[in-house]
Amino acid sequence: VDLTFRPPKTRDEALRFFRLACPALLVPVAQAEAWMEREGYDHLWLAFEGGSLVGGCLVPELAQYFGGKAVPTGAFRGVAIAPEARGKSIAERLMRHALLALRDQGIPAAMLFPATQRLYRKAGFEQAGSYEVVSIPMHEFDRAPRSFTALGATAEIEALDVLPVREVTLDDPILKVLYDALAPRTQGLFQRNAWLWDRVFRPALPLDLFAYVFGPHEDPEGYVVVHVEKGATPHYGTLVVRDRAIATVGAARAARAFFARYRSTIDRVRFVTGPTDPLIIGLDNQQTAATERRDRFMFRVVDVKKALEARGYPPIDATVHLLVKDDVLEERDQRFLLRVQGGQATVEPGGAGLVQLDVRGLSAMYTGYLSATQAASLGYMKGDPSSARALEACFAGPAPWVADYV
Ligand SMILES: CC(C)(COP(=O)(O)OP(=O)(O)OC[C@H]1O[C@@H](n2cnc3c(N)ncnc32)[C@H](O)[C@@H]1OP(=O)(O)O)[C@@H](O)C(=O)NCCC(=O)NCCS
Repeated sequence: VDLTFRPPKTRDEALRFFRLACPALLVPVAQAEAWMEREGYDHLWLAFEGGSLVGGCLVPELAQYFGGKAVPTGAFRGVAIAPEARGKSIAERLMRHALLALRDQGIPAAMLFPATQRLYRKAGFEQAGSYEVVSIPMHEFDRAPRSFTALGATAEIEALDVLPVREVTLDDPILKVLYDALAPRTQGLFQRNAWLWDRVFRPALPLDLFAYVFGPHEDPEGYVVVHVEKGATPHYGTLVVRDRAIATVGAARAARAFFARYRSTIDRVRFVTGPTDPLIIGLDNQQTAATERRDRFMFRVVDVKKALEARGYPPIDATVHLLVKDDVLEERDQRFLLRVQGGQATVEPGGAGLVQLDVRGLSAMYTGYLSATQAASLGYMKGDPSSARALEACFAGPAPWVADYV
């Protein structure tokens, strides 16, 4: 097939893609133009077969925290091929083209949420972190503040135990300050740019959002941005936490106590969670958390040297001789000498290639999602065991997740 890939030349051409992508991604075609306005089209690749538009994808540049440093990642979104052109490897070739373009732009990695994994695994991605939505019955939150009064606590003691809460406007800079302080201490969360913040505060469908900050005015410890949603029963609704940053155990306790204040009309609280979540760990009955959505993001190292040098590392000294197999972007296997010291890495070409890694395994280890043993058991890694352990130690950190479904 005669395929070409290029950015749109005109606004009209871009709009034709958004119209094509709407039914593919279950969005009403009537919303195509609004989607394009929100999204922009300066990071759009189009696919043409014999001159006619058959699909495309969006790849905005974002950044995710790994080891405390923001690593630039191309976030694949809106991958769509017209139904009549499917099944001819067009998506696969489009992915390869866009990945090479990322590398040319100096962006060392890529991520995405897969509708189907096969296509992306073929393109060199692997599962590498979680995105999970849970909802928790209100009575779980109700308990915490009551246990204080059960001990005979007065309002005074409660005030000591539970941080104060105050409402702030959505544009209060404290929200970003708190998020920016917390995100680098996680693994995988985005360093939010204006577009990502806009997605939080300006949802596609209008919502009444309210923001609350926990802690003293001069030293806040966390926030939640919430809205309410009608529930299945006539009397009760759901409190939806649209965004939050909970930096301390005090903020977690304050947030839980705050949720309980909604109990007269709310019987569930829903939020995006990670593999370990201070909002859930502190519950008496964490098993009552119901998973409403369980997703995994996929990740791909696009430029081995740049990606390894871009992330942060634990304070260990390690030297690892890597041999990386990338069947999509490279004609032959590549050797690298990775040296980690003082929380940073330097990478030089060469070395003895003591650990052999498929790029998918490297990608999933890079985010801290797969251990060396798991990568080996999936067939992604072999070679010298002590080098493999050293590599695992380099990538150790909190379990990776993202809070923004991009
Ligand atoms: C998913 C989509 C982009 C695939 O486009 P395509 O051009 O038909 O895909 P390709 O022909 O390049 O397929 C590449 C590989 O992925 C596999 N694949 C493609 N779609 C698949 C699906 N829905 N389920 C399982 N495997 C799939 C193909 O079988 C092929 O693997 P194989 O060669 O080993 O058989 C297209 O079906 C589409 O636009 N769907 C609706 C929108 C969507 O789901 N987008 C993804 C959002 S993340």
